[in-house]
Amino acid sequence: MSFSSDVMTRHVFGWVSILWLTSAVSIAASQGVTLETISQVFARCGDNVTLTCDASSSGDVKSFSWLAKNKSVCQYGDNGSSEFLCESSAQPYRLTLSLLNVMPVDQGTHICKLHSTSGAKSNTTHVTVQDCVGSYGSSINGSHAECWFTGVYPIGTVHWLQGDVNFTLSASTQAEKDPHGRFNVSSSIRVKKGNLNQPYECSLWIPSARKLLSSQRIPLVEKQIRSSGCTVTLQWICMMVGIMTFMV
Ligand SMILES: *[C@@H]1O[C@H](CO)[C@@H](O)[C@H](O)[C@H]1NC(C)=O
Ligand SMILES: *[C@@H]1O[C@H](CO)[C@@H](O)[C@H](O)[C@H]1NC(C)=O
Ligand SMILES: *[C@@H]1O[C@H](CO)[C@@H](O)[C@H](O)[C@H]1NC(C)=O
Ligand SMILES: *[C@@H]1O[C@H](CO)[C@@H](O)[C@H](O)[C@H]1NC(C)=O
Ligand SMILES: *[C@@H]1O[C@H](CO)[C@@H](O)[C@H](O)[C@H]1NC(C)=O
Ligand SMILES: *[C@@H]1O[C@H](CO)[C@@H](O)[C@H](O)[C@H]1NC(C)=O
Ligand SMILES: *[C@@H]1O[C@H](CO)[C@@H](O)[C@H](O)[C@H]1NC(C)=O
Repeated sequence: MSFSSDVMTRHVFGWVSILWLTSAVSIAASQGVTLETISQVFARCGDNVTLTCDASSSGDVKSFSWLAKNKSVCQYGDNGSSEFLCESSAQPYRLTLSLLNVMPVDQGTHICKLHSTSGAKSNTTHVTVQDCVGSYGSSINGSHAECWFTGVYPIGTVHWLQGDVNFTLSASTQAEKDPHGRFNVSSSIRVKKGNLNQPYECSLWIPSARKLLSSQRIPLVEKQIRSSGCTVTLQWICMMVGIMTFMV
């Protein structure tokens, strides 16, 4: 009786040791691989962003790749595409992914993965796109002042001022998303007659970043500017009047 229980104990001890040994070996193997990435990258729309992944591996590399939105976009040995550039080097192992003309749709976590004979490992880089604004412009007529900004990201709203008077709450503002994830923002206010002594100023405000990204001053209505001088078609009459006045 005591003999068989002794055998059992030895058996159990043996299995536990083997399990302990194999788990220790696999921990050592994956610890033998280190994968270093930049954890966070900030970019503006249209920038080229370079993500590096540096691997130190004691074993042979079986696969080494960058994933964007869970899809492999750059494999060790590849050159990439029109959207991505991919470069590889050995000793030490480095895989470089360049995102060309980065846009809000390219935002998110990019994963670098390495499988080698001494284990598997992954690390990430989070790409954030911010402070984007493309072209802008404004117009004014007798009844409305309008102002627009294209290629805006993150989404913004428009603030209106005339001198110290804040017209923001009476403005009507629209935003439309473009295929790259950026926004076209336009805003208009009703202009009151006899209220054109000072120019209007409209500014693009990004609530999530709590900052003004762009600002423009809208020149006064044409009619007002013209009333102080001569229009092109009447120029010669003005000249004649001027000459006659001089002669008198
Ligand atoms: C990922 O990379 C960072 C920066 O190089 C490094 O500090 C970190 O230990 C890495 N994480 C893993 C899980 O390898
Ligand atoms: C990004 O890279 C492309 C191709 O390499 C180049 O033509 C373009 O000028 C670069 N853009 C910027 C903003 O550096
Ligand atoms: C990526 O894949 C993981 C697991 O394979 C899944 O949990 C995650 O939701 C996926 N993410 C995207 C953006 O598809
Ligand atoms: C990658 O580019 C290099 C140098 O331009 C070229 O020699 C190689 O054939 C290309 N490889 C692939 C897979 O396109
Ligand atoms: C003035 O401009 C606004 C917005 O730009 C437009 O909707 C309106 O039709 C214009 N009015 C006149 C009289 O041109
Ligand atoms: C104008 O009014 C808007 C909306 O109430 C406010 O968010 C903004 O800070 C004001 N701007 C100034 C310069 O007072
Ligand atoms: C945004 O504005 C640009 C320039 O005016 C225009 O080409 C583009 O079609 C607009 N996009 C949307 C979604 O309105």
